[in-house]
Amino acid sequence: MSLYLRDLTQALKQIQEKKINITVIGVGTIGLPLATFLASAGYNVTGLDINEARVKQINDATVVFEYSDKLKKAVKLNKLRATTKSSDALKDAEIVFVCVPTPLNENLAMNNSNLLSATDAIIKNIKAGMLVIYESSVSIGTTRTLIKRIEENTKLKIGKDIGIAYCPERYNPTLPREILPQVIYNSKQSDIAYYTIDKVSRVVGGSDEKSLKLAKRIYSEFITTEVKEVSSIETAEATKLLENIFRDVNIGLVNELATIFPTFGVDVYEVIDAAKTKPFAFLPHYPGAGVGGECIPVDTWYLIRQAEENGLNPKLLKVTREVNDSMPAHTVKLLEEELAQHSKKISGSKISVLGLSYKKNIYDTRLSPSLEIVKILKSKGAKVVIYDPIVQQHDSRYELNSFEDTFKNSDALMLITDHDAFHLIDLKTVKDLMKTPIVIDGRQFFNKTKLKSLGFSYRCIGEPK
Ligand SMILES: NC(=O)c1ccc[n+]([C@@H]2O[C@H](COP(=O)([O-])OP(=O)(O)OC[C@H]3O[C@@H](n4cnc5c(N)ncnc54)[C@H](O)[C@@H]3O)[C@@H](O)[C@H]2O)c1
Repeated sequence: MSLYLRDLTQALKQIQEKKINITVIGVGTIGLPLATFLASAGYNVTGLDINEARVKQINDATVVFEYSDKLKKAVKLNKLRATTKSSDALKDAEIVFVCVPTPLNENLAMNNSNLLSATDAIIKNIKAGMLVIYESSVSIGTTRTLIKRIEENTKLKIGKDIGIAYCPERYNPTLPREILPQVIYNSKQSDIAYYTIDKVSRVVGGSDEKSLKLAKRIYSEFITTEVKEVSSIETAEATKLLENIFRDVNIGLVNELATIFPTFGVDVYEVIDAAKTKPFAFLPHYPGAGVGGECIPVDTWYLIRQAEENGLNPKLLKVTREVNDSMPAHTVKLLEEELAQHSKKISGSKISVLGLSYKKNIYDTRLSPSLEIVKILKSKGAKVVIYDPIVQQHDSRYELNSFEDTFKNSDALMLITDHDAFHLIDLKTVKDLMKTPIVIDGRQFFNKTKLKSLGFSYRCIGEPK
């Protein structure tokens, strides 16, 4: 008898004894670390993905990600494999995780097409006793619509024949520490603790009590901290939205202050560092050239569109998106002001953009502010060259440049992504290569005093001129 049909005690025991076949649908940024941890915990795990190249890379254990070593071990021990064939992946599955992308559609609402096709693959291969756990970020109520779809297209009843749970992922992607440069520096981020998946607590909601308890149990097999139960699937969905919107709004706040404080001669970063000495009721967030990734900005939009459907006008959320989306243009404005000091314009200038990914030390470029900045610069007639050794190594879609080609005869350098690797750049060499030594810092990354002593003109978001 498979998992969900057993009585709760027996089913919990089955999970604890690792006698479960697990399938993870969508083994990308979120799904592969999950599959790897489950396999390392002792389960037989199959990854189902529509991307053949990804499937091959997983089976060859050649994916470069934070848990590459764990993946190699799991594949070698035959605990983890991947396939593009849904019947192969799902025929023996007792627990199915869904980690497919949920990007925005053209109206900036959630595009559920991947969730629908993943759910249809489950429906085709469904058996009584399955537990399905959705992890993709979704708008509130999405999982309920998928439950309905399963019930309408099978003879099975959720809560009787099969179970459903929702547990939003909380992964913070990074590359393996071994392949990142070991740079010793005073970073404002260096006090952020390093959280591997097993150390991050999770929140879970279930369609019924048994689904909730079983979902909690499976996470507790590889997570060493709290797995918190909430009263409904919708509460778990909304928790993910709150987490990401909290970041979006607070970054929006400091981004707005980054445009105001410098006009009073005040450095917003210094203010944040001072404010964070308060031991309660303040959490530091930092300004920057924009907020990207298919995560933070996307979730704010999901809720804006849902609230509008309910006849509401979520003003703060809309302004947050507007402020954060305006940061690429603000960064370009700083560039224009600095170029003007050198009697130059963007048109006809060679501008070197450092960093293409949406955040440091990864190669994911989805919704990256750098892409927007490159677009604005090109529309203003600049010759744009992009330098990102991490993206260059892992993603062949972009025309990226060598160090020398990037800086030679450049009129300005704009740092948009604060990859640790950029701390290794020899700024004296850069200065010698550039035609006009202007630096626009989108992340307060460089040491201003050092740059100025080398003869650079330096502007940083949030700092007075
Ligand atoms: N990457 C992050 O940092 C992050 C953070 C928060 C939330 N999320 C959420 O996690 C979810 C997954 O995002 P991701 O970043 O892992 O996406 P991803 O694009 O990195 O990976 C998704 C994988 O799913 C596969 N896929 C798509 N449709 C499929 C289908 N029908 N069947 C099988 N495989 C399919 C793709 O080929 C891909 O390999 C999204 O809801 C996203 O919003 C991601």
